Amino acid sequence: MIEPVYSADAARYEKMQYRRAGKSGVQLPLLSLGLWQNFGSHTPFQHAKQLLHYAFDQGICHFDLANNYGPEYGAAEETFGRVMASSFKPYRDELFISSKAGYDMWPGPYGNWGSRKYLMASLDQSLRRMKLDYVDIFYSHRFDPNTPIEETMQALVDIVRQGKALYAGISRYPYEHADRAYRYLAAHDVPCLLLQDRYNILDRNIQERGVIDLTMDANAGLIVFSPLQQGLLTGRYLNGIPSDSRMARNQSLRQSTLTPELVAALRELNAMAERRGQTLAEMSLSWLMRDPRVSSVIVGASSVEQLQDNLKAMSNLDFSPEELAAIDRFSEPHWIRQYP
Ligand SMILES: NC(=O)c1ccc[n+]([C@@H]2O[C@H](COP(=O)([O-])OP(=O)(O)OC[C@H]3O[C@@H](n4cnc5c(N)ncnc54)[C@H](OP(=O)(O)O)[C@@H]3O)[C@@H](O)[C@H]2O)c1
Repeated sequence: MIEPVYSADAARYEKMQYRRAGKSGVQLPLLSLGLWQNFGSHTPFQHAKQLLHYAFDQGICHFDLANNYGPEYGAAEETFGRVMASSFKPYRDELFISSKAGYDMWPGPYGNWGSRKYLMASLDQSLRRMKLDYVDIFYSHRFDPNTPIEETMQALVDIVRQGKALYAGISRYPYEHADRAYRYLAAHDVPCLLLQDRYNILDRNIQERGVIDLTMDANAGLIVFSPLQQGLLTGRYLNGIPSDSRMARNQSLRQSTLTPELVAALRELNAMAERRGQTLAEMSLSWLMRDPRVSSVIVGASSVEQLQDNLKAMSNLDFSPEELAAIDRFSEPHWIRQYP
């Protein structure tokens, strides 16, 4: 069968809300799509492509990648590159594409952490895999305690100067190192565009560490990941562990986290969502989107149906003080300690 040529939905930008990334010129879709899981070699290419097309047709123009997303490492960037070289090709200037380096990628001393050597080589590899001349933002994926932060930040500055990334960002930096990174980048005229970190109803760690306030003071944008705590904050695990779920693979989302106490909490949250006329996934995303400090929420999805559900979150961002207080009961530190 001959596949029809992809043509993006003409109404795509009317379906999405866009928010500014900090005090920059860049606007991001309120919902972005992450390719950490579900876009590697275990996922049929047609399925991954369908998800990417669907996302873009809904106005999701930001796709979040990293060198090691897969499995295997590099596979998600390769999948994205195949779509980039075909159906997304006419749309390059409408897309905001990220990559990152910071975690284990290749053997030896130059395939991990935050050296200039690693970041420069990794970005070149990512560009080749994604069939791109440049990424829109390149992140230091994590803080490296053994590399001078000046080296890591200068690598980001030089990557931007070389035109291989338009903007620089940092991910998962502790407070004092994020502070130093923001200052270094601003002093070198490459202000940090985005801080990326985990934030959701169960995990408020970045709020508690003061990183959100710090980021706002630095005029950077906040983009949050694992908004559904990898699927826990959905209907997925209310009645056991589905065989096609992330938790069934027992890797990044461990089955041991699903204690009876957590299931009871998720059921309470689910009942709250139902009273709001939402699914638990929708409510969890709405809760993040209601916060104007959040520029974009990066969700993961294994099906178009999940993405469809998640997009509905944008239409109900009002929470009563009572609802917020009830949700806050689930942010106690004893929950946070249970997660990786
Ligand atoms: N900077 C970093 O260090 C870092 C770290 C982690 C993630 N990220 C980024 O953030 C992105 C999102 O992270 P994440 O995948 O952990 O996000 P998430 O949105 O918390 O979890 C995604 C998973 O939740 C389930 N799900 C999503 N929508 C659903 C719905 N409506 N109903 C039921 N289940 C639903 C799916 O699980 P099933 O697969 O089981 O169906 C999906 O794979 C990543 O792709 C990556 O781009 C960055």
